[in-house]
Amino acid sequence: MNVIETKQGLKCWVATMKQDNRSIGFVPTMGFLHEGHLSLIRQARKENDVVIVSIFVNPAQFGPGEDFERYPRDLPKDTALAESVGADVLFVPSAEEMYPAEAQVTLTAGPQADRLCGRSRPGHFDGVLKVVTKLFHLTEADRAYFGQKDAQQLAIIESLVRDFDFPVEIRRGATVREEDGLAKSSRNVYLSPEERSEAPAIHEALRLGREATLSGRDPVPVMADHIERHTSGTIDYIEFLSYPELTEPIGSGEAVLAVAVQFEKARLIDNVILNLK
Ligand code: PAJ
Repeated sequence: MNVIETKQGLKCWVATMKQDNRSIGFVPTMGFLHEGHLSLIRQARKENDVVIVSIFVNPAQFGPGEDFERYPRDLPKDTALAESVGADVLFVPSAEEMYPAEAQVTLTAGPQADRLCGRSRPGHFDGVLKVVTKLFHLTEADRAYFGQKDAQQLAIIESLVRDFDFPVEIRRGATVREEDGLAKSSRNVYLSPEERSEAPAIHEALRLGREATLSGRDPVPVMADHIERHTSGTIDYIEFLSYPELTEPIGSGEAVLAVAVQFEKARLIDNVILNLK
């Protein structure tokens, strides 16, 4: 596996692959890799000739007071993990390499960013669009892989690709969970032992919410009650929206039931996608 730190180095490698007509799969990450990331890399490995994984803790998507400085990092471990699942390139640029000059042109997420995490993290998805656009251009990927775990991010990136005719196919990966149901996340390391034992209640609440919805009841109070009774966290949001539009559900098609809970040091998000008949 090649570890590449510069845009120029990556472009050279990509040019060689393009010359040989090799299809490129791309998995963008912020590192501290876990099984959720690895499942996306494995999927990319199966569907493409070569695979690029990026690790970049993107300052543009963190707001003031968020966890940019303390975001967990472990490059030696990540390098071994990415290699073990068959990545060909690990792209690990510095912030100066990615953003050498102040941007004059910016991207702004549309109404899909008005709800859920976009409401509590203003500007977050604009920062995601900024880095993902650059990474799509640098990697020239045929397919790029995103987890359903971040359903709003996935929906907004699908809009980016459609609205601006990016020549990349977005592939969705299912949410990978711990045995007790907690969605894997790099941020789970921030949980105290007590909070870690409470956190599976988020997934339990989603299951209860799903049942409520399918039997025609409002899922939100059911979920709020479960999370309030079983965790010490504060509910940031519980929303039930059409997917991927992220507007009020219309009664048929796909819908997302999504939740965010703030613990002392970790803000956890999770969701389930439902198919409304
Ligand atoms: P990060 O949080 O590192 O996640 C990288 C990718 O892994 C995202 O597509 C995310 O949805 C997926 N992922 C995370 N946890 C998962 C899980 N439990 N199961 C399945 N997939 C999971 O998301 C980002 O980084 C950044 O915003 C990024 C897209 C890299 C832009 O900076």
